[in-house]
Amino acid sequence: METMEKPIRIALTKGRLEKAAVEIFEGIGIDCTELKDKGRKLIFKDGEGKIEFVLVKAADVLTYVEHGAADIGIVGKDTLMEENKEFYEVVDLQVGKCKFAVASLPTFKMNEGYRRKKIATKYPNVTRNYFGKLGHDVEIIKIEGSVELAPILGLADAIVDIVETGTTLKENGLIVFEDVCSISARMIVNKASMKMKREPIGEIIKKVQEYVENK
Ligand code: PRP
Repeated sequence: METMEKPIRIALTKGRLEKAAVEIFEGIGIDCTELKDKGRKLIFKDGEGKIEFVLVKAADVLTYVEHGAADIGIVGKDTLMEENKEFYEVVDLQVGKCKFAVASLPTFKMNEGYRRKKIATKYPNVTRNYFGKLGHDVEIIKIEGSVELAPILGLADAIVDIVETGTTLKENGLIVFEDVCSISARMIVNKASMKMKREPIGEIIKKVQEYVENK
C-alpha cells in the first residue's frame, strides 16, 4: 500500500533572512515559486508537496522547531544565543552575517565612575552573559527596537545590538566599543524529527551543506 508521507516542514525567519533562505532552497532544487510570490500567505508548498515552508518571527522559529511543529528552522545565531531552547544546530549557512557589539556615543567610558552602567538591548541574555564573563555588573534595560536611541535619549549608557553594515550606528552618531561575537544564519532541526525523518532530513542537510560550501 502506498503511504502518503507528510511533508517536511521548514520554518523560515520572516524579513531579512527570507531572501537568502529562498536562494539556498532553490539552489538545492526545491521549487520556491509559491514562496516568492507570497502576498500575505504564511504557508507554502513546493511543487511536489514534499516540503512545506512557513514564515514566522525569528524567536518563533525556535518555538516551532523545539515543539516539533516544524522539522527544520532557518534562524540567526543571535536568536539561538538569546533563547534557551532544545534543537540541533546543523549548518552555518554563511549568510545574514553580522555581529553583536557594544556601542554608544563617542564620549562613553565603560570603566569610568562607580555607578552601575545601564545597557539597553533587545538581547538581555546575550548581554548578561557577555558582561558576566567580563565580571562587569551592569543593569540591563530590555527594549524592543530602535535600540540606538537609548544612549541618545539618556535611557542607557550603552547598547548591545546587532551591527551589520554599521549604517544605523553611524547615522545616529554612535560608535562600536567592543565586538561581542559574529553572527550568521543557521539551520536547526527538531530532535525527534532528526530520528524519525532521518532520510529526507539528512538529504536536505547534506545538500544545503554542499551548496553553502561551494558558493
Ligand atoms: C537591526 C539592529 C540595528 C540594525 C543594524 O535592527 O538592531 O538597528 O539592524 O544594521 P546596520 O548595521 O546595517 O545599520 P532592525 O532593522 O532589525 O530593526 P529594529 O530597529 O526593530 O531593531
